[in-house]
Amino acid sequence: MTNTGKIPKVDQTTRYDVLVVGAGLAGLRAALAVDPQLSCVVLSKVYPVRSHSVAAQGGINAALDAEDQWQHHAFDTIKGSDYLADQDAAEFMCEDAQRAVYEMEHWGTLFSRRPDGRIAQRSFGGQGYPRACYAADKTGRALYQTLFERAVARRIAVFEEFFVLSLVVAERRVAGVLAIEIASGRLIAIPARAVIFATGGAGMMYARTTNPYIATGDGLAIAYRAGVPLKDMEFVQFHPTTLPGMNVLITEGARGEGAYLLNAEHDRFMGRYAPKLMEVAPRDIVSRAIETEILEGRGFADAYVHLDLRHLGDDLIRHRLSEIYDFAITYRGINPVRDPVPVQPGQHYIMGGIATGIEGQTELAGLYAAGECAAVSVHGANRLGANSLLDTLVFGRQAGLAASRFCREAGQGPPIPEQHWQGWADRLADLRSHAGRDHYAPIRRQLRATMTDSVGTFRDAKHLAAARATLRALRDAYAHAGVTDSGTVFNYDLLAFVETGFLLDVAATVVEGALLREESRGAHWRRDYPARDDEKFLKHFLFTWSAEGPVVGEAPVVVTHYQPKPRTY
Ligand code: FUM
Repeated sequence: MTNTGKIPKVDQTTRYDVLVVGAGLAGLRAALAVDPQLSCVVLSKVYPVRSHSVAAQGGINAALDAEDQWQHHAFDTIKGSDYLADQDAAEFMCEDAQRAVYEMEHWGTLFSRRPDGRIAQRSFGGQGYPRACYAADKTGRALYQTLFERAVARRIAVFEEFFVLSLVVAERRVAGVLAIEIASGRLIAIPARAVIFATGGAGMMYARTTNPYIATGDGLAIAYRAGVPLKDMEFVQFHPTTLPGMNVLITEGARGEGAYLLNAEHDRFMGRYAPKLMEVAPRDIVSRAIETEILEGRGFADAYVHLDLRHLGDDLIRHRLSEIYDFAITYRGINPVRDPVPVQPGQHYIMGGIATGIEGQTELAGLYAAGECAAVSVHGANRLGANSLLDTLVFGRQAGLAASRFCREAGQGPPIPEQHWQGWADRLADLRSHAGRDHYAPIRRQLRATMTDSVGTFRDAKHLAAARATLRALRDAYAHAGVTDSGTVFNYDLLAFVETGFLLDVAATVVEGALLREESRGAHWRRDYPARDDEKFLKHFLFTWSAEGPVVGEAPVVVTHYQPKPRTY
């Protein structure tokens, strides 16, 4: 494409009632909950079935059995969160879980079954009962297929390969979004009465992550820049078992089925860290245990330990864990039926996100959020495995219902003001016409290395302060950086430039929260403050954007029935 240096034309499309950004499980569930009398469109930066929800493996929690109760699920979730979850929200999610899972079953999800025909359930980390419903180790894909078919049947419009740049706010409410049509580079302003963000996580700020390239914190950064607070950002989850190299997920379901973790001395070391639950302790504990084994010299040379599935037998591995069986063979040339699989912790999830209430509502009228980009907060300082798929379905639905109510009650809403898109149009035109400036890629690489080295499983003031300084320098460098591709058609260079800006903003909130939280809680472990400190820190941090960096506020944790106790497993 030749570089014209011209400001691209901005098109305004049809006005929608509800606009959903993100076509993963939370986004599609939200769209399906929107009142069919209202107009609804879903925007996705990828073809929808490439959304990250499809990669979810191990399961979705619900207390289905007579011997189990949603209150036990709520207690496990709250204890798992190291008492930072808002307990009313966690109770709401766990009480709604049975409805959500049976709804998916009735809509056609092909769950694995018990011999008597009931949905099969397996153990997962930190759960007092085997309550993760699963479809082999492809649970996300099975759920997604169901919602996708339903969305097609409902003729819900999906604009695929549209990249959202910003949220339009006018008269103190949402007015729509500004997006790029990736195929043409055309800027479009899409007016809407309500917007739901379901844009997923921000794993790309780390070098070792189970997340895909699209997980660049878009919704988080866009909401944050629009003045909406982010919450609990210092809590980043590291999944204990990822394949070294690509960091592809090896599901916790493997340990739920009985796989062992072994160090290089063939010791089943979890007995020293969580004597009761062993390998199915919560993720924060298992990840720290593995890192400790490696750091203290009991791991294998390339910073991993072994996951041993061999005693589970050929049949179970090939049928209930078929995806990880394939992954181990494809990516490492290891057959888990015969040999132990190398595993190491990798970034997997962010517990923090756009601060929302139980209906997905944010501080900004007309803006809702659900799924990983939102912090309701049901996961607090550490999410339990198999609670994220549940979160997407329960709170996606809540957001769709609430956005519909908002549309019915809040009137038409303002048009999109022209000055809103002018800034972006100028910026993009400038980037294209000055292609060849210092490229952003080294900035992104350094960001990912810094977060991995200094804001990982173990943290301390010295490394966090250095990370903050590095991030500030990267932010300065980014202001003068550019792209090499001056074209408009499928200009992924330009998109990755914008995504890098999103990641820098999101990472700054993670570091700020991690520095301020001088205690250890859940996934946030400070070597210099190794104890939990409820007196000072049983509270949420809220991060509000400013040109100088995040401004930090606080909010109380909602406690209903469960007083914080020491957390042992
Ligand atoms: O290990 C897993 O299958 C991941 C599940 C989750 O993150 O909920």
